[in-house]
Amino acid sequence: MRYGYFDDENREYVITRPDTPLPWINYLGCESYFGIISNTAGGYSFYRDARLRRITRYRYNNVPLDTGGRYIYLRDDDSGQFWSPSWQPTRHQPRNYSCRHGLGYSIIGSEYSGLDARTRYFVPLGEDLEIWQTTITNQRNAPAKLSLFSAIEFCLWDAHDDATNFQRNFSTAEIEVENGVIYHKTEYRERRNHFAYFACSESISGYDTQRDAFFGPYRDWEKPLAVERGSSSNSIAHGWAPFGSHHIKLDLAPGESRQIIFLLGYYENPPEQKFDHSDPQTIDKRNVRPVIAKYSQPEHAGAAFDTLRSYWKELLEICRVETPDVHTNRMVNIWNPYQCMATFNISRSASSFESGIGRGLGFRDSNQDLLGFVHMVPQRARQRILDLASTQLPSGGAYHQFQPLTKRGNNDIGGGFNDDPHWLVLGASAYLRETGDWSILDERIPYDQQPGSEETLYEHMKRGFRYALERLGPHGLPLIGRADWNDCLNLNCFSEEPGQSFQTVTNREGKVAESVFIAGLLVLACKEMAEVACRLKLRDDADFYKLQANKMEQTIHEHGWDGDWFLRAYDNFGNPVGSHQCDEGRIFVEPQGFCILAGVGLGNGMASRALESVHAHLSSQHGIVILQPAYSKYYVHLGEISSYPPGYKENAGIFCHTNPWIMIAESRVGNGDRAYDYYLRLNPSAREDISELHRCEPYVYAQMIAGPDSHTFGEAKNSWLTGTAAWNYYAITQWILGIRPSWDGLQISPVIPRSWKGFRAVRKFRGATYRIGVRREGQGNGVELFANGARVRGDVLPLPPDGCKEVVVEAVLS
Ligand code: BGC
Ligand code: NOJ
Repeated sequence: MRYGYFDDENREYVITRPDTPLPWINYLGCESYFGIISNTAGGYSFYRDARLRRITRYRYNNVPLDTGGRYIYLRDDDSGQFWSPSWQPTRHQPRNYSCRHGLGYSIIGSEYSGLDARTRYFVPLGEDLEIWQTTITNQRNAPAKLSLFSAIEFCLWDAHDDATNFQRNFSTAEIEVENGVIYHKTEYRERRNHFAYFACSESISGYDTQRDAFFGPYRDWEKPLAVERGSSSNSIAHGWAPFGSHHIKLDLAPGESRQIIFLLGYYENPPEQKFDHSDPQTIDKRNVRPVIAKYSQPEHAGAAFDTLRSYWKELLEICRVETPDVHTNRMVNIWNPYQCMATFNISRSASSFESGIGRGLGFRDSNQDLLGFVHMVPQRARQRILDLASTQLPSGGAYHQFQPLTKRGNNDIGGGFNDDPHWLVLGASAYLRETGDWSILDERIPYDQQPGSEETLYEHMKRGFRYALERLGPHGLPLIGRADWNDCLNLNCFSEEPGQSFQTVTNREGKVAESVFIAGLLVLACKEMAEVACRLKLRDDADFYKLQANKMEQTIHEHGWDGDWFLRAYDNFGNPVGSHQCDEGRIFVEPQGFCILAGVGLGNGMASRALESVHAHLSSQHGIVILQPAYSKYYVHLGEISSYPPGYKENAGIFCHTNPWIMIAESRVGNGDRAYDYYLRLNPSAREDISELHRCEPYVYAQMIAGPDSHTFGEAKNSWLTGTAAWNYYAITQWILGIRPSWDGLQISPVIPRSWKGFRAVRKFRGATYRIGVRREGQGNGVELFANGARVRGDVLPLPPDGCKEVVVEAVLS
């Protein structure tokens, strides 16, 4: 069953019934002002940091679901009837309801009682504000006398404090209203130089800024008193809950349309220019007035919208494909890179599943996310890599997370996740392959943001290896520390206290438990580092990293192989995890994926054997399960992994992030049919028809789909902010379709299904545009390449000579 459809032409998903199984959200903003918006206009906004600069309030996990957002109420002043065109919060039965989620904008509206009202929400590029453009059309044969009310709830900036510290909060709120603009300025009197404003293009008949005055006692969003009554009370918030609502009266002739613009923005004044001359406590508004005046005009709002559309169009034109499959085309050309940009901007902070309070930017997460967006915003990727490296610890280890506003490592969680430093190498190598900008390696950056500790990025990467090589265990495999990629495999934790964080408690010395996953990751990182060193003409370094890769590969062969698959780990007692010897958790997906990705076992049959085992034991109709058999009870020596009921999350859920590793591994052994089959099982668009089961948005990946051991097999959770986005994008574009940026040119090495006759693609790479046609002439993966008609040896297209901006590529598979 579907709740809408894809409009590929407009790059939109159009939801046609409002009661989706869960709120289906979109993101507004792509620079510094952000928001989430659901298909019924629920959600909230923030500036840069979802915890520390929250602009509007939102209550998670509420009843009814997803109330609180960017609402408009319409009221028929003749009959007194009122409703919300976005369905929530009044939930009147609408006609022609639709929510068009597009790239950086959403258009939500419906018809009710002969009035069509739709609002387009977006954040203009270069501005810290959101625009709501509401168009109301009178479809009646008679004139309509209407009232329109806007409604938002302001947050007192720190989202955590806002939801907890009521003894203070109920007394701090402050508001100013000037010329119909509502200014929220709580704490502006003291250490904050920033405020929010909520403006409207029309002259208003009234306003409310005190929440209780708008709603009336014991009422809620469904029936606010001001709307029911048809008039605001011009309330000014002093403490309690600051609110923003305008009341606008409209007379519409039959057939007449009117557009009203609302602006919600954030502004930070220079400290010396905080207050107005007239009164030492009034905001100096000289800088925001012109911005408000500008975007209140439909021409400027419209132009900003067009610019936003062009911005996304250009980004998506960097890599476009035309394959025989609609789901592949739509995900690769539109939604998957769009989701990758969301993970870049928002990391794991704010979604329907992430409260925006808990987590900063993850060191491992952000480095992996790079794989999915580096080709679109290389300059911003460069900065991200340097920011991440600046939080690396002097030991070569890394803070597990950092706060985007301060760019400092997060002390609450600290470090000790022994996979972390390797991801920096993979992030940097993705950047180098894409851009060829070797200068990034010479950038000098500090450790732990400590001035005076600066070293080059290349040295940072080397320290990461030193950290790893100083931490090998009894079998010569890397010690796991608090956890590796799987945050829930906590082999040194032994937690028996309810509520303890599995991520931060370490009760064992940590000198025994080893990770085969990190071993695979280390081999891959060493190989990348050797390539880097080779190009820097650092022969000794190159030899050293090759040697380390070989040594670790040998160690995996000897101690990381279980007979039919790669082992997962050794626990604190030296016993294997993910082995046929275990009662539960006998096979895990991660080491199969990552060892093969690193090339381990390709030469001796282990890789193919491991992949057969994955297929036999882990694959399901909804994707590849993370482990089998599920843990049926809590094992104190394994940690959080066994805390989840069977079939969910890291305990035998389909943890989608890992699936592309197997797709890549299948491509590495040349099995295009299987790689692609796995790809399609997870592809959100290909799951659209089972939306009632999948429940999450059909246009983005989710972190998890419940596994066969669960009670809700096939149900997705935690959509949007997941490494699944980048890895799927990387797997399909670079390994299955095989268009791979490499050190010295663009590699073309497709491993596609046998039934495909070929595909076409356009890829912009290092200043040239490659128009690629792949044609299948035989059943294998051998490739013969022609660039602008000339035969190329091997599968890497050398960079074109200066001045050559277009390369027509013909690839023949046989
Ligand atoms: C989740 C993991 C997540 C970890 C860190 C755990 O509860 O299961 O997926 O990585 O928390 O926040
Ligand atoms: C989600 C976390 O963000 C990520 O860092 C981790 O690798 C996975 N969960 C698996 O535990």
